[in-house]
This record gives sequence, C-alpha cells and structure tokens, in this order.
Amino acid sequence: MMNILITGSNGQLGSEIKDIANNYTDFNFIFKDLPDLDICNYNELERFITEGKINTIINCAAYTAVDKAEEDKEISQKVNATGVLNLVKALEKVNGKLIHISTDYVFNGNSFLPYQESDIVSPIGVYGQTKREGELAVLNSSIDAIVIRTSWLYSSYGNNFVKTMLRLGETKEELGVIFDQVGTPTYAKDLASTCLEILSCCKENNINSNGKVYHFSNEGVASWYDFAIAIMALGNLDCKVKPIETKDYPTLAKRPHFSVLNKSKIKNDFNISIPFWKDSLEACIFKLKN
Ligand SMILES: NC(=O)c1ccc[n+]([C@@H]2O[C@H](COP(=O)([O-])OP(=O)(O)OC[C@H]3O[C@@H](n4cnc5c(N)ncnc54)[C@H](OP(=O)(O)O)[C@@H]3O)[C@@H](O)[C@H]2O)c1
Repeated sequence: MMNILITGSNGQLGSEIKDIANNYTDFNFIFKDLPDLDICNYNELERFITEGKINTIINCAAYTAVDKAEEDKEISQKVNATGVLNLVKALEKVNGKLIHISTDYVFNGNSFLPYQESDIVSPIGVYGQTKREGELAVLNSSIDAIVIRTSWLYSSYGNNFVKTMLRLGETKEELGVIFDQVGTPTYAKDLASTCLEILSCCKENNINSNGKVYHFSNEGVASWYDFAIAIMALGNLDCKVKPIETKDYPTLAKRPHFSVLNKSKIKNDFNISIPFWKDSLEACIFKLKN
C-alpha cells in the first residue's frame, strides 16, 4: 500500500489533491500542513514519516509570496530549499518516493521558445532562486523522485489571480493588466490529477526512470492581459481590461517575460492529456460560481 503524505495540504494544490483523493482507493492519503507538520523541522518530519510508515510524499508545501520573498529571503530559503532537503533526507531513510513541485520562475524568461526540461535555468528573483535550490536538493539525491515545474497556478481554493480578477471585476469599471509577460495558466486541479496519475502508473516502477525533471502547465499560451480578459468574459463581468506594460506595474520581484513550458516529456512518459487553459479556467469559474 502506498502511504502518501501531502505536505502543505491546505494550499491550492494540496486542497485539489484532497478533492480527488477518493478516486484513488489504492492509496492511503495523509494530509498535513502547518502548524501540525512543518517541513522545516527535520526531527519532527523524520519521526512523522517513520512512525506513519510514509513511503511517498507529494510536496505541496512552499513559500509562494514572490514579492515578499525579495524582502525576506531567509523564510523563502528555509521553506523552499531547507524544507525540501529535509524531505529528501527523511525519505532516504525509508527508501521513499517524492513528487516535488517547482516553478517556471527558475527561468529568466529571455527565450522565445517553450522551455524544455534540459534548458539552462537562471532565476531572476529570490523566490525562483530558492525554488531552484529546492530542485537541486531533489536532483542531487538518490531517492526515486521527480520535480514537476508548473506555472501560473490557480484554483477555487486559496488566493490567486483568477479570484482577484473576479473580485475586482465586480467593483471596477476598468483595470490595467500586464500584456508583456507571457506564460500559461494552470488549474491546480489538473496538476493534482497528473501527480496522482503518475503515482498510479508507477506503483511498481520508478517514477524517475526517464529523468527527474518534468514540465506541466495547461496547454496554450497567454499574457496576464489575455488571462484577465478570459476571466471577465467567463465570469460575466463588464469590467474593461486595458493592456499595460510591466514597467507601468512595478513590483518588488522581477518576473520572466516569457515562461511557457514545453510539456512533451510528461505527456509522452506518463500518457497524460492536458486541457487547454481556457477550458480549465471555465471549469474553475463554474465551480466558483455554483
Ligand atoms: N502559485 C503559483 O502561481 C505557482 C506557480 C508555479 C509553481 N508553484 C509551485 O506549486 C506548488 C504549490 O503551490 P500552491 O499555489 O498550491 O501554494 P500555496 O497555495 O501557497 O500552498 C502552500 C502551502 O504550504 C504551506 N507551508 C508553508 N510553509 C510550510 C512549512 N514550513 N511546512 C509545511 N507547510 C508549509 C502553506 O501554509 P501557509 O499558507 O500557512 O503559509 C500553504 O498551505 C509550490 O511548490 C509552488 O512553489 C506555484
């Protein structure tokens, strides 16, 4: 039996995994988040994994405040790098499996072709740098682990761009949204089912048999402006969205101008089909409205 620990289980991705867990009757899930289980506390973590006979972890725990990370590198590094190293070390003791989630922000965004897993990383902010350190903790270990990089995550749970736009769209007549940052929105529900499908198809085999890094987002390409327009349309909101440039919306953290991910590897290796971003957005907004 796979005893699967979901760390950071109250976040967007963790909550989506919770929602679909009942469809996977072969798995025994254990959902934990702060303050009950802190991935930064190695002793607590090791005890929990050993005593709970945990043999698999999907790490949904992270410090995801991209701008705040610029002012408080220590907390970002603690959770995104040291916390991940702790998970790896604890899993080494029980020969366990790990799916770790990383980000498109490990790339600098200077490309104009969708990023492949083998492309050079060069994060331009603290969040991306500390997430890269977390990746390295996984990549340098000998456990059966994969890193899935994803982008522009949203969900009906937690705080995210979709929920912010729906809220602002109710009250504002007009809104400026950046059109010179291009990527792909990802419904956390689609990533949740991908993680569980990967574990299902590799119950007896290694999940890392064809390399350790994978890219996953929804299909297609959008700017934040395109994303906002689609949210207003699907949310039946009259708010007019105006395209603005990054320079006109200053933030503490720099973000890549282009971070579209190439998903060929994950689709081929695990036989996964990925929905178009607008179809998944429609499903999420339908859920939020009903
Ligand atoms: N959100 C995005 O746009 C995005 C884009 C690309 C990649 N990702 C990656 O995707 C993954 C899932 O993201 P998400 O949006 O689901 O994140 P999220 O909603 O911010 O959830 C993260 C969860 O981890 C918890 N956490 C923080 N520190 C912890 C610790 N020391 N020990 C245990 N749990 C801790 C958080 O608790 P608190 O809320 O109490 O801090 C929160 O419940 C992350 O690895 C993230 O880096 C996200």
